[in-house]
Formats: sequence, C-alpha cells, structure tokens
Amino acid sequence: MENIKQRIEELRDELNRHNHNYYVLNAPEISDQEFDFMMKELEALEKAHPEYDDPLSPTHRVGSDLIKGFTQVAHIHPMLSLGNTYSIAEVEDFMRRAKTALMGEQFEIVGEMKFDGTSISLIYEHGRLVRAVTRGDGEKGDVVTDNVKTIKSIPLQLKGEGIPNLLEIRGEIVLPWQAFERLNREREFNEEPLFANPRNAASGTLKMQNSAEVARRGLDAYFYYMLGDNLPCDNHYDNMVRAREWGFKVSDVMTVLRTIEEVDAFIERWDVERKTLPVATDGLVFKVNSLRQQLNLGFTAKSPRWAIAYKFQAERALTRLQYISYEVGRTGVITPVANLDPVLLSGTIVKRASLHNEDIIRSLDIHSCDKVYVEKGGEIIPKITGVDMSARLPEAAPIGFVTHCPACGTELVRVEGEAAWVCPNKYGCDPQRVGRIEHFVGRRMMNIDGIGEETARIFYSKGLIKDIADLYEVKADDIVLIERMGPRAAERILQGLEDSKKIPFERVLFALSIPYVGETTAKKIARSVRDIDTLISMSIEQLVEIEDVGERIAESIIEYFSVEGNRVIVERLRAVGLQFSMSEESNEGRTDRLAGKSIVISGTFIHHSRDEYKAMIELHGGKNVGSISKKTDYVFAGENMGPSKLEKATSLGIPIIDEDTFLRMISE
Ligand code: IVH
Repeated sequence: MENIKQRIEELRDELNRHNHNYYVLNAPEISDQEFDFMMKELEALEKAHPEYDDPLSPTHRVGSDLIKGFTQVAHIHPMLSLGNTYSIAEVEDFMRRAKTALMGEQFEIVGEMKFDGTSISLIYEHGRLVRAVTRGDGEKGDVVTDNVKTIKSIPLQLKGEGIPNLLEIRGEIVLPWQAFERLNREREFNEEPLFANPRNAASGTLKMQNSAEVARRGLDAYFYYMLGDNLPCDNHYDNMVRAREWGFKVSDVMTVLRTIEEVDAFIERWDVERKTLPVATDGLVFKVNSLRQQLNLGFTAKSPRWAIAYKFQAERALTRLQYISYEVGRTGVITPVANLDPVLLSGTIVKRASLHNEDIIRSLDIHSCDKVYVEKGGEIIPKITGVDMSARLPEAAPIGFVTHCPACGTELVRVEGEAAWVCPNKYGCDPQRVGRIEHFVGRRMMNIDGIGEETARIFYSKGLIKDIADLYEVKADDIVLIERMGPRAAERILQGLEDSKKIPFERVLFALSIPYVGETTAKKIARSVRDIDTLISMSIEQLVEIEDVGERIAESIIEYFSVEGNRVIVERLRAVGLQFSMSEESNEGRTDRLAGKSIVISGTFIHHSRDEYKAMIELHGGKNVGSISKKTDYVFAGENMGPSKLEKATSLGIPIIDEDTFLRMISE
C-alpha cells in the first residue's frame, strides 16, 4: 500500500514538473506521448485507490461537467484598479509626483505589459492552491477554483524557497490569440454568437459552469502582483522573479527602469513589439519597485498611488460615411449599419461598421457625408468612435433613424426601456419570416442536415415554404426543380427532416423563435413543464415560477401562443412527429459509472444536498444503501460523519470518499 502511495506522489510531482516545463517555460523535456502515459498510470492508480485522492492532483485539471453556481467570498485585500492615461506626458507627471512625494529620494520603476483579460486572485496556503477568486466588485468575487485548476500554467503546488504560509498572488487570465481564433471559428461553425475580443472570451470562459469546457478552451494566466505579510523580498521585481521560480508565469517583458528616458523608450518599444506577443495587451503598467516606497505613497480610494497604467491608442482610421443601411433581424430588431469608403485598418479593409442602435447614432451626432473614425481595438467588428468635425460639410444634416421597416414598410416601434426599434409585423415581414426558418434549421436547434441558411432562403424565395411547418411537407419532386439541387440533395434533406423528429423537446422549443426564449431558457422551461400543452395552458403567475423566467419572457410566451397561426404551426409540427414533450429516456446524464456499486451516504455536504446526491447515485447506476456492511462499496462522507460509521467503515476496509472525489467519479 505504501508503495502505491509513493508511486502516486512520484507521478504527481513529475507531471506537475512537466506541466510547468511545457506551459510556463515552453521547454518540454518529454514527448506528449510519454506525458500521456504517465498521466494514464496516475489515473489508473487513483481510480483503484480513491483513498489517496488529492483535489490538487494533476489528473483533476480536466474539469468536471457538473453544473453548480459560484459562491462569493470577500477578498482579503480589496482588488483595486489602476489610474490610467493615454499620454506619455502624464506618465512623466506620475514619475515627478512620486519623486516629490518620496521627498526627492531615488526610486526605480518596473515596466510591465498590461494584459487584456480578466483579473484573478489566487490564495495559496503552505504552497497549495486553495482558492481562486474573480475580481467581482473589488470587495468580493466569485470562487472559480475548479475552473482555474484547469489552466495548466497555474501551479497547484508551489516549489522552491521562501514561500509564505499564506500567499495571495494576482494576475490576469487571458485567452491567447490562437485559442481565441480557434474558439470563434468553432462558434461560427456551430452558429453561436462570436466573442468580440479575447477579454470577453476569457471572462466568459472563466464563469462557465462546465469546467470540462473551460479546460478545452485553452486559457492561460500571467501574474503581476504579490501580497502578504511575509513576502520574500523588499521589492516588487524580485518578488515576481521569486514567483516565477515557484512556478508562476511571469512575463519576460517586466523590466526595471530608472529614468524618464528609459520609461519613454520602454513605451516606444512595446507599443510596437506587443503585436508579436501571443496574448492581447491594452497598455503598459508602471510600478514603483520598492515595497517601502509603495507603502509611503499609499492608495487613493480607488487605486494605488505607486502605479499607473499607460493605455495604447487603439488603431483607428478616418474615412467617409457613404450611407446608413438598416438590417431586419429574425426578431424584428432593426440594426443600423454604416457603409463606408473602404479603408485599411490593422491589415484588413473595412467597408462596414455596426452602429448598434439609434442612441449610438445620436451620441456620435453623425451627419450625412461625415468623416468618421473607425477603430478595431481588439474587437472583430470595427466600430465608429467619433466624427471629424472639422471636415463636416456646411449642408450636412443630422441622420435620423428610419421610421418604417426597410423590408415591409410597417411603422417601427420602440419598446419602452430598450434601445432597439422593432418592426412589429412579425408574421408578414419577409426577413423575420425567413429569419425564423433559418433559425429553426440551425445546428443548435433542429440541426437539419442538407438545409443551411442559404437553402432556407432559397426555399422561401421560390415559394416552396412559408413557415417552419411547411418544411415537413416539401417533396423530393419540388426540391429537384431548384437550381443545383439533384435527387441526392433531396434525399439528404428529407432524411435530415426525418432525423429532426428525434430532437428533444427543449431544442424544439428553442427552435420555435419565441421572442426572449433563448437556448438556456428553453431548456429550463422544457425541463420544468415537461410538455407543450402544459406550457400553453400556463398563466403569467405560473410561468414566472420557472427558474430564469421573468415577466418579460412570461408575457412573450403568452403572446406567442395567443396567436392562432403559431398554435396551428405547433399542431402541424406535432402531427408530423416532432417532440413536444420530454421523453422518458431523456433522463439526461444517465450513465453506468456507478453500476453495481452500493454506496452509503453520511454527513452534511457543501455542493449539493443529500437528496441530490442520492438522485445522482441512482442516475449513474449505483444503489444508495442505509447502513454499512461488507457489501458496501463506498462510504460517501460529508462533514460531521458519525464516529460509529467511520469506525465501521475503517474496520471493514471500505473506501471513504469525499464530495470532490464523488463528483469526479460520476463525471469521468
Ligand atoms: S497591477 C493594485 N499589473 O489591469 C494594482 N494590473 O486597471 C494591481 N492588469 O485589475 C494591478 N496587467 O486586471 C497590474 N501588469 C499588470 C496588469 C494589470 C493587467 C489589469 C488588472 C487590473 C487592471 C487595472
């Protein structure tokens, strides 16, 4: 037994070291295959010996796909922001102010990149990662430890000299450009909304409930601030060098600067060279190096007086506005789009920029033929950030928003409290009707093989279909009449439609395009009401009882089913065999991971209630039994497990597993 324990520890140490070599130092010593081999050995040993489990084992970096909310905790020290500026002169002022406040004493400045991600605070006790907390409101944040553990460059166990018993280190969680682009390509393929920039993608990912998905996305983290009472050195730079030795990724850009000239040169260099870095940055940060001097300078209510952020000017170009066009979406929302004289911006030619809504047009005070500034600043879709007033023509007039739908001519309405103008002609306006069909056939909805957005539009424009129910009446003979569609395409489409009859109710509900009922809401509703007839019969009061359903969604559902045409569509879809109730085998998540195991539950739990755990045991094929016997496979123990049970389990040699272990067992 001791040998096994020793081997497990050996493997964990080795795997941690190789992770660090690979993800932090970019200097792997062994092949991926050798690494996988060691990992498999460790997994097998841990599986056979759950009693030696350790939540910080490298095997647990894969994440689990259990859904659980985040708990909030107060930060030990509030997470402040930095004063920032776009001007070199102000950075120089900052240096002068510091010098005066330090009564003329010499001081050093540390120059660093300002990483454009989402900040994180990690707490280590005796060198072990115990908690990862987001910035939140600065006073308290969300505990995201499980997600953070999936980031391979973050050390779970520190190694080296001078590690304080209690250490807080802060840094930035980033999604490197490469991973960001891959993620967006995937999202495009799956018809999911794209992330505008790596920062949004990083913070969105960190807050995901499913840590297995987090692990897949490829986050990384850079560290730039250490806090605590027993820091190893008396200056920031040396502490960060120590942090690097303990296993953290600390950027090599970090440099000690001694004069204003050195600071200026640092800015000039990194404003250009940052483009070669693998991650997004939005500026530089300058910090007084000595901790004693930092203490002297102190803090304002919002930020330290010993640091300043210099932000890079986003790349922008000046071009002429040709005209504004208006697009009508599936839900009738009208989006204004600026059509521009083509202009080169960060390597691509820009011809169009979204103006989002009327308020944005007004706040920019755009007039006809204006020369406008277009910016990309890490965003994919360029935006208009200003107008060159000096180039405004005397006869230019302010641009008013359209009053009527550009597609069907209906007068637009603006919902109170919302920025968008909407075409209310839901059932007669072509782009809305086509939009609903495009949505219905999409991958995350009915996923109809052979019909993409383009085909849906062609079917509609040729008069083959007018609504989603018509799709199921399309005949092969009609399809082959369409250009470039042969019998093979027709067969594929008909098969695709046939297969869609198995799509579960929750996705059918999402596919209907009920305003405000998105993917997640549809899931919650479907799981709660179980079938469409119940949903149709519900009142507002009953609807708002469903998790995540507010008044606006409830009203929208009622309105949708009050329209006879919609009820007819539902009936027609039901008649052809679509799922309008949760089928019995839709017991999502059923597995046989605990097949044949009898498990005794004892004590109190943190992540789920006892009843939930009982249900989980059943769901995964196990049996929940009341008392410990020779036949018991595991004792699943929470806090305060009774001493007699503990004694009995130990004497019979029955493995005792804790919550994390149990959750991992069922999610492997
Ligand atoms: S130091 C008390 N250093 O910028 C000051 N922050 O606007 C602690 N950031 O919330 C922050 N790179 O998320 C520091 N090298 C760097 C940074 C950095 C990015 C972020 C961080 C912070 C925000 C401040």
